[in-house]
Amino acid sequence: MPTFVVKTFGCQFNELYSASVADMLERAGLEQSTVLDQASLVVINTCAVREKAEEKAFSFLGEAARAVDASRIIFMGCSATLDQERAKRIAGRELNIIPGTAGVEEVLARVQSVAACVQSDLAAPRSLFPTADIEVVRGCESECTYCIVPRARGRETVVDAGVILREAEESIQHGFRELLLLGQNINRYHWNGGGLIDLLSVIDRLNGDFWFWFLSPHPAYFRRTEVECFMQLNHAERHVHLPLQSGSDSILRRMNRRYSMADYDALARAVRSGQGWRLTTDIIVGFPGETDEDFEATVAAVHRYQFDEVFLAKYSDRPGTPSSTMRDKVPRKTIDERHSALLRVVQDLSLRSNAGMAGRSVDVLVVKAAALGMTFGKSRDGRNVWFDNQTGMSLRPGSFVRVTVDHGSREGLYGVCID
Ligand code: SAH
Ligand code: SF4
Ligand code: F3S
Repeated sequence: MPTFVVKTFGCQFNELYSASVADMLERAGLEQSTVLDQASLVVINTCAVREKAEEKAFSFLGEAARAVDASRIIFMGCSATLDQERAKRIAGRELNIIPGTAGVEEVLARVQSVAACVQSDLAAPRSLFPTADIEVVRGCESECTYCIVPRARGRETVVDAGVILREAEESIQHGFRELLLLGQNINRYHWNGGGLIDLLSVIDRLNGDFWFWFLSPHPAYFRRTEVECFMQLNHAERHVHLPLQSGSDSILRRMNRRYSMADYDALARAVRSGQGWRLTTDIIVGFPGETDEDFEATVAAVHRYQFDEVFLAKYSDRPGTPSSTMRDKVPRKTIDERHSALLRVVQDLSLRSNAGMAGRSVDVLVVKAAALGMTFGKSRDGRNVWFDNQTGMSLRPGSFVRVTVDHGSREGLYGVCID
């Protein structure tokens, strides 16, 4: 059987697009593999958000180009918009390039023509089961000064509410148990005078046994009343991801984040007032001009909100972004030191948050059947859960179970499921 390789870097959008491509190729009779030199097709889905991610993708492209002919390689995603010349220098002019601004329909059509297969429908990809990823906002126009996404992903457009609701309904009917709504700044969603919260409220009223969640809200476009309203919804996961980026008002201004710490505080407190709700965030250390005081303000904010998990990034200069031309760059050594200091704090918080769950019973959605005796799932508040299935029945992905937590680590919870 002919095989294909898909290598994915970056965010949930890339995960979704790659899964859609993989599903289409599998339906066309190709088998997914990791062996490059035997592949009929190699798909590389790239991310340019930090230099490291980008370098990894280009290095994988070099590896692929040594193994197969460039005409059998598809280079897609954000670096495929931003640096086509470099990609061609590495792999040759026969390389197939699909820019990151192409929507999933266009991506599928282009892959279809390279692979000479028939296009599948646009239903949620099976390979992400039991999660159905659903795009609600494409592109981004928020212009955070450090961020390459607006250049790589293009203009912001919203998906029609009718299309989203149909996809949500069909996914539930097909047994998907988690709906994950996606937008780079999802609070920009609008339809018929309504906004994101109205869409979420309609989704919440759909029939069926499912949870739903969304990524990523932007604190400048999220109101406290909307957070509170989301927290009342029956099918909502008990988790809000609220990207902070910096705890210093002056750095937030230079990042063009359009909110102050006082605005952020109102949202974070709303989440923190909910029993059993998890609060997670993204932080960048070493943004140009970040002083010791600015950094201390970020550390203080992390302590104040006791984030359950923090995705910590070292500032990375992205060519063409406004911050890349700011003059007062923080030296690499200082960035490294601040990163290690804050990493210790956030790792300790993750451990404490998960360890604090020991002895409790939690609802878990099974994601992967048992491997090495442990079944993997996620809790309603978005934690990883590994558990020993002692029910005597085999548990399939998509089952809801109750797990008694034995202990927690930085990565998640460990427990047992008895009935
Ligand atoms: N649209 C989402 C995700 C953006 S990219 C959001 O706004 O939250 C994911 C994360 O990568 C960002 O939240 C930010 O923390 C980080 N990031 C983006 N650009 C970066 C850069 N130039 N250097 C370091 N981290 C960056
Ligand atoms: Fe980048 Fe800001 Fe858009 Fe997020 S909201 S993708 S950080 S520009
Ligand atoms: Fe990366 Fe592009 Fe997503 S830059 S984070 S893959 S939108």
